[in-house]
Amino acid sequence: MIIAVDGPTASGKGTISKALAAHFDLPHLDTGLLYRAVGRQCVLAGGNPDDPADALAATTFAEELLNDPELRSEITGGLASRVSIHPSVRQALFERQRSFANQPGGAVLDGRDIGTVIVPEAQIKLFVTASVEARAERRHREMLVQGRDVSLSDIANDLRARDARDTSRKDAPLIVADDAIVLDTSNLDRDAAIASAIQIAQDRQSLR
Ligand code: DC
Repeated sequence: MIIAVDGPTASGKGTISKALAAHFDLPHLDTGLLYRAVGRQCVLAGGNPDDPADALAATTFAEELLNDPELRSEITGGLASRVSIHPSVRQALFERQRSFANQPGGAVLDGRDIGTVIVPEAQIKLFVTASVEARAERRHREMLVQGRDVSLSDIANDLRARDARDTSRKDAPLIVADDAIVLDTSNLDRDAAIASAIQIAQDRQSLR
């Protein structure tokens, strides 16, 4: 069973994917981390994330980089969004994601193009989304917990900019796959969102 989970940043797709993986006892790959590692490696090497050659060179990042806490930062998220525009970067990360998806027993992958490009044959596809306001509020709460007080409007503007870049890029834009089920988490708390996702996956599985 392959479960593809796509959606914009801060939609809850990471939390939902982890919960699905635990529930169905499947390995999970957060593909955003791969793009984050490329963005981070690019700047560590003194490269420009908007330059396709510099970004491609950074796809040979050291595996340890995936454990770098800095990968989770907003700044690295922005760098990831910029390097992910280049088709050569997407191509370089393609095989790694495909082979993760195709391991015996299946897998859960989350990202932007899992159900459309990486594993279009996935049996279960979820598109997790939420309003910009709901996503900004969640991000804001997370940041306050970390002791960072960024204004809600700055966070919302940053999310809009990231959405615009992720949905408008030519190669593998963030779009809903034809056969994906949309889960809007704007008015759901964490547990309710997870319960809905598990229900959707079980329903799909029993239809097969
Ligand atoms: O999910 P995330 O916020 O960690 O992703 C960071 C950026 O990486 C996102 O803005 C776009 C890019 N990305 C992508 O293009 N394709 C994916 N499958 C995952 C992430």
